Amino acid sequence: MGDGEQRPGLTPRSVDPEQGPVDIGQCRALRVTCLSEVGWWDDQVVLEAVGRAGGLERAEQWTTPWDSGNAAGCCHLIEVEGLDGSLRRILLDAAWNPAFLEWRLQATGVAALLEQGQVDLLYLSHEHMDHFWGLEAVLRHAPELTMMVPSTLSLKALKFIFGGGFAQAGANNRVAHHGQLLKMPPGPVHLLWPGCASVTFDLPIILGVRGEQSLYFNVQDKGIVCVTGCCHQGVTALLDFARQHLAGGQDLHGLYGGLHLAPFGQLSPQAEEAIFNLEQYGLKKLAVNHCTGLKAVELMRELAYPVEGGRASQGSQSPLYLGNGDTAVF
Ligand SMILES: [Fe+2]
Ligand SMILES: [Fe+2]
Repeated sequence: MGDGEQRPGLTPRSVDPEQGPVDIGQCRALRVTCLSEVGWWDDQVVLEAVGRAGGLERAEQWTTPWDSGNAAGCCHLIEVEGLDGSLRRILLDAAWNPAFLEWRLQATGVAALLEQGQVDLLYLSHEHMDHFWGLEAVLRHAPELTMMVPSTLSLKALKFIFGGGFAQAGANNRVAHHGQLLKMPPGPVHLLWPGCASVTFDLPIILGVRGEQSLYFNVQDKGIVCVTGCCHQGVTALLDFARQHLAGGQDLHGLYGGLHLAPFGQLSPQAEEAIFNLEQYGLKKLAVNHCTGLKAVELMRELAYPVEGGRASQGSQSPLYLGNGDTAVF
């Protein structure tokens, strides 16, 4: 258990974007390290469990009997340097398998940062198992860590956070969260720190889940960087929100995270269209992984989009995208 002082709580300011473009301030630099982008090891094993539970639209994640040996999960460390020299750290998502996440936390030095109170926030993009059910591994190091979740989270998810288990699904959190829990509603732009904002997108998502929140950063001399967990709202909705509602949103600089374009290998015509459509935003750097899918990344590269590669190590499968242990600098 960590004996370091936790950083003080967070008081986000919420601004209505219907009143005009929201100025989210600026940060000096942004760095994102991928602890893991691997949701699970074998697509087929996940699809078979989903099939037995009624299919992607009907299955309910908290009651589906998943194969726990197939679980890995997503987790990323975001480091934001302020114009005043301050350094804020956000842990984006908490993976699926606690033992796997513990390995990733140790391998990247994030376990020590958690214990020393050097992480400001655990930011949960959405409640899908591969982003959330490894929570216990984070809380073991920092049970009082401030947590930010979309207000659309289910009661089961809240029960899980406070130390609940769902035996049939193999979800178990044996370390209750004791820190500040911020539930962020859809509608406003939530300002966290200068140059850092969060937006909740309210929509039904596969496996009985609702809502996803995403982060926006405004990096000095570069522009807006969008950071996402799975991007179930769609990459076009993510980027258009910045363009329409954030000051400087005409000048998008970067994109990080999962884009849910080819999560199970196949690229649908709609996903292809979304990739072609990306061209108009003029992004300077795409560090996309996880449910973006290899097929989607290959098409982006064919179209000469500036996609960051990686080392294909520590569980990640291809050097064509930024993977486990790799860092993107924006
Ligand atoms: Fe995911
Ligand atoms: Fe997801």
